[in-house]
Amino acid sequence: MTALNVLIYPDDHLKVVCEPVTEVNDAIRKIVDDMFDTMYQEEGIGLAAPQIGRSIRLSVIDLDVLSEHYPEYKGFRKAFINPHILEVDEESEMLTSEEGCLSIPGIHENVDRRTRIHVKWMDEDFNEHDEWIEGYLARVMQHEFDHLDGVLFTDRISPLRKQLVKNKLTAMSKGKYRAAYRTKAAQR
Ligand code: NI
Repeated sequence: MTALNVLIYPDDHLKVVCEPVTEVNDAIRKIVDDMFDTMYQEEGIGLAAPQIGRSIRLSVIDLDVLSEHYPEYKGFRKAFINPHILEVDEESEMLTSEEGCLSIPGIHENVDRRTRIHVKWMDEDFNEHDEWIEGYLARVMQHEFDHLDGVLFTDRISPLRKQLVKNKLTAMSKGKYRAAYRTKAAQR
């Protein structure tokens, strides 16, 4: 198991529509393990394969860190292979909540998302799951599975906010942001 570097915006891997996983072999299991390690190192709750440069439809999610406030997520640690959102319950509540992304460090923005979705995926044994998912997990899934289609949460924010973060993203794409972040961190 190896913690890898998370690719940072605007890395091309983050824009790719990923390919389905055709079988779960040792190589895929190794990628899953590495993704969990990478996510824990970065203190994230979710990570998608393109964020470590693999253009395959695979995400990992661990919500155990939230279990103090959401007891139902105690021990929740899962890999999602070929996940697909079949349906969004348009009758469910639309919630606004702040999101961030390990690939877009330093930017946090409110994103509106429905709270109930119908999802299909394969687990690490390649067994198929078909479930309605509610609550915070539904949000995390929507964020993570978007990555597999090259979509970032900043593509989902309001046009006004998008304009405001555009400058930050441009600075990041020129590498200015990371330098500034390091300088700031060093001053503490
Ligand atoms: Ni993300």
